[in-house]
Amino acid sequence: MRRRRIAILISGRGSNSATLMAAARSTEFPGEVVLVMSNRPEAEGLARAREAGIATGVVDHTSYNDRESFDEALHAMLEAHAVDVVCLAGFMRVLTDAFVERWAGRMINIHPSLLPLFRGTKTHQRALDAGVLVHGCTVHFVVPELDAGPIIAQAAIPVVPGDTAEALSARVLAQEHLLYPRALQMVCDGSATLVGERVVFAGSWAPTGSMRSPD
Ligand code: GRF
Repeated sequence: MRRRRIAILISGRGSNSATLMAAARSTEFPGEVVLVMSNRPEAEGLARAREAGIATGVVDHTSYNDRESFDEALHAMLEAHAVDVVCLAGFMRVLTDAFVERWAGRMINIHPSLLPLFRGTKTHQRALDAGVLVHGCTVHFVVPELDAGPIIAQAAIPVVPGDTAEALSARVLAQEHLLYPRALQMVCDGSATLVGERVVFAGSWAPTGSMRSPD
C-alpha cells in the first residue's frame, strides 16, 4: 500500500507533531509527514520540523481578511504538497465548514479530554471542577461542529486526589503522545475509516480505549 502523505497543522509548541514525525520516520509506518504548517510564524513546532528535515509552511491568519480566504490558502498549500491526510495538533483556528467538508474522512484532531465531555478549551480545569474521576484524550475525525467528530481512539487516566490542571495536563499529554501516532496509523492503513457519521474499524485493530495508572 502506498504510504499516505501527511500534513500536520500546528499553532504552537508542537509536541504532538514531534511524536507523529518520529513515528512516521519508520518506513514501516503507513504514512510519511511531508509538511508541518502553522498559522503562526513563530510556532516552536516549526523549528522542530525543520530540524527533522521536514518541509514547513506558514499561512499567517493575520494576513487574511476572512476565514474563507485563509482556508483557501491553506487548502492550496496542502494540494501543492499532494497531502492525503491532515492532522490537527494544537491548531488553534476554527476552519470553515467548506474546508472541513473538502477534507472529510481525511482530517483528524487530538483533543485533551474524553469526548464528548469538555469540548473547547481549559479541559483539565473543567474536568477537575466537574469532579470526574477519569480523564484523558481523544483522536477523532474532524467535522464542522467543533470537537464533535466520530471517535477513532481514546486513552483514559485516573484523576487522583490533589491533582492540579498542570499535573493532569502533563499526564494526559503523555497519553496523547502514545495515542496520536496509533490513531494516525489506523487512518493511514485503512483500519479506521469514516463511513457516514461513524468510524468503521477493520483489520487487527480493535476500537479499544485504554486505562493507565498515573506516572
Ligand atoms: C494538546 O494538548 C492537544 O491535545 C491540544 O493542544 C495541545 C497541543 O500541544 N489540541 P502540542 O502543541 O502538541 O504540544
